[in-house]
Amino acid sequence: MDVFECVSTLSSIRSYIKKEVPDEVMMEVLEAGRLAPSAHNDQPWQFVLVRDKARLSDLKRYCKSGGFISQVDFAIVVVTDPSSKWHEIDSTRAVQNMVLTAWSHKLGSCWIGRLDKTGLMDYLHIPENLNVLTVLPFGYFDENLAGGVKYRKGRDEIFHLNTFGNTGKFA
Ligand SMILES: Cc1cc2nc3c(=O)[nH]c(=O)nc-3n(C[C@H](O)[C@H](O)[C@H](O)COP(=O)(O)O)c2cc1C
Repeated sequence: MDVFECVSTLSSIRSYIKKEVPDEVMMEVLEAGRLAPSAHNDQPWQFVLVRDKARLSDLKRYCKSGGFISQVDFAIVVVTDPSSKWHEIDSTRAVQNMVLTAWSHKLGSCWIGRLDKTGLMDYLHIPENLNVLTVLPFGYFDENLAGGVKYRKGRDEIFHLNTFGNTGKFA
């Protein structure tokens, strides 16, 4: 898949099949996060890989809006450093890199935002001065049952030509 094909077909996946992800694909996903750009090149992120099945099941307790976490092959807990001004923006770019790279290998993911952060940080031994941004599940999914549909605002609602409010002819 080229980049635009990935962007235009990407969707959040909330149901996964049991199928192992090759180590090299998993490493490529992690690497995509490491290579993300950041303000001042601060790289204010740490990635905790969880692949142990018992631990993936335990994560369900802390992922209040992502019970599907226990179905996946691996998860990445994205930890940010609040001492860097743009830590969440920067780390979100790392997340998008990882999610798109995974998608190019037909691996699904979904941002899990509602978390028991205190419990999760304690469980993973994350230092108190850091912050958990999200937990990302990664796994294969049944392509017949998931993905493909995008609900987005229309171009007329968000594109402006030369001045705000001018919905001219773009191309
Ligand atoms: C900051 C953020 C938080 C999100 N939190 C959750 C979540 O807690 N649980 C969930 O199932 N999806 C979550 N999502 C996924 C969104 O619901 C999803 O991206 C959106 O509905 C658009 O659908 P799509 O990703 O399939 O295109 C989150 C997405 C973002 C960007």
